[in-house]
Amino acid sequence: MGGRLVIPDPSRRRFIAGAAATVLGVAAGCSDDGGGGTASGTGPSTTSGAGAGTTRPAVRLAGDPFGMGVASGDPLADSVILWTRLAPDPVALDGLGAMPDDPVDVAWDVAADDRFATLVTSGVFTAEPEHAHAVHVDVGGLDPATEYFYRFQVGEFTSPTGRTRTLPDGSPGRFGLAVANCQWFEAGTYAAYRHMADEDIDLVLHLGDYIYELPGNPGGEGRSTYPGNILTTLTDYRLRYASYKTDADLRGAHARFPFALTWDDHEVANNYAGDTLPSGAAPEAVQELKAAAYQAWWEHLPTRLDPPDGPSLTVRRDFAVGDLARIYLLDERQNSDTPPCRGGGGEGGVGDFGDCAERTGVDRSLLGSEQEAWFADASSAGGVVWNVVGNPGCLAGIDGGGPDASAYYLDTWDGYPAAQQRFIAQLAGIDNPVVLTGDYHQGMTLDVHERPFDQSSALVAPEFMAPPISSILFGQDVSPRTPHLREQLNNHGYLTVDIEPERLTARFRVLADVSQADTSISTASTWQVTPGDPNAQQV
Ligand SMILES: [Fe+2]
Repeated sequence: MGGRLVIPDPSRRRFIAGAAATVLGVAAGCSDDGGGGTASGTGPSTTSGAGAGTTRPAVRLAGDPFGMGVASGDPLADSVILWTRLAPDPVALDGLGAMPDDPVDVAWDVAADDRFATLVTSGVFTAEPEHAHAVHVDVGGLDPATEYFYRFQVGEFTSPTGRTRTLPDGSPGRFGLAVANCQWFEAGTYAAYRHMADEDIDLVLHLGDYIYELPGNPGGEGRSTYPGNILTTLTDYRLRYASYKTDADLRGAHARFPFALTWDDHEVANNYAGDTLPSGAAPEAVQELKAAAYQAWWEHLPTRLDPPDGPSLTVRRDFAVGDLARIYLLDERQNSDTPPCRGGGGEGGVGDFGDCAERTGVDRSLLGSEQEAWFADASSAGGVVWNVVGNPGCLAGIDGGGPDASAYYLDTWDGYPAAQQRFIAQLAGIDNPVVLTGDYHQGMTLDVHERPFDQSSALVAPEFMAPPISSILFGQDVSPRTPHLREQLNNHGYLTVDIEPERLTARFRVLADVSQADTSISTASTWQVTPGDPNAQQV
């Protein structure tokens, strides 16, 4: 978000049955994994590797290709996505990681223990140069609510070991989430991720601003990223993700828990909406940015999604946690109508933060009509206690204006009041909605009313806003004009959410000092919600 964006002052050697891993090449299978490469795997409880594929020529790598670590994501009850990206030099300036321009076979193992004594399944994935040798392995045939360990191998190199966990089915007694967002690399350490790795959780929800597109300061003092310019090309975006992955605490959290991620604006450009930028750039130019940014997002994150098709990638999705909960992830950028009050690119407009007559009375869609219809359909299935909505920008409404005038962030739900009320009406029709939010660089608890800012209208859901991981705090007290605000915390950190059949508990975990990697963490407040009552209680 623009307004919250204050520019700072500033082994075993692996052998594949049937094809020994000679030098750095291994046998390749041929089945299409639906992702950016090809994969062959074996069913659970077997240890044989690649099938009767061709043997790829040996590829000589410049060094250990696993510097960006490993990750898992988008778990289901019987499968999970395993990720890595091969790059002996993650920040090689061409964005290609010092990899050869050839497909490279990667062996992967999934085991029941971290010493890989009890191998569950294994296979080979072919990482393709057109996707910067990203690896997305869809491992199936797993048991629900089960911990697994995984690793990758290319020739003599073995990745760090990751741990993951499948979703439960049936009637789980508890499911633990952490909610993360807004991790501007240069603005602070990732101490929050170091502490998160110690939490008893099953899944990390990431609500966006995984990267920031602003110019880096490569080689500069303190935390710095590549490249030194604002991101515009696929090479730029790849370098930025690779720079972020140099942080050991971020890699550690990814290696510890599966993630499910959506995005906000900074994965592409500040305050972009649909095919528009506040600067009034041509739609074709915004689409080029989106295509580059979406491809790099897909290449660097452990998602089950197919690769993007140019400037298009369907990111909204949902996850069933048995009959305990359904978790939804929304996309509030890709297909949004143009925000109000921009005045044709700034001239005569109020900018990104303010108010104008144009804000109300016009039916603009934030989600896009397809996503609105999808949510209505997905959420109407019922059969769960909790409906947990991963919603990048605040739904309840925030008025950050002064004594004389309102001011809203116009690229969020507040700039789309008709759509905002329509979505809230959908929530009112389903069981026990709980909204999890990010974006505002604050921690907040808010009440979502049927009509935002009308306290006489029905209370529909609690909304818990996760503090930023590292981005600069917004800081302003919004309580004078936001009557449904229950609490505001000017801290960095994350949220944990314990989901149980009889209660949902949100804890604001906050850092003492984000500038210190070894800083401490504490719980600033704890809120509970019980089924049938949307009025959150502080405990
Ligand atoms: Fe942010």
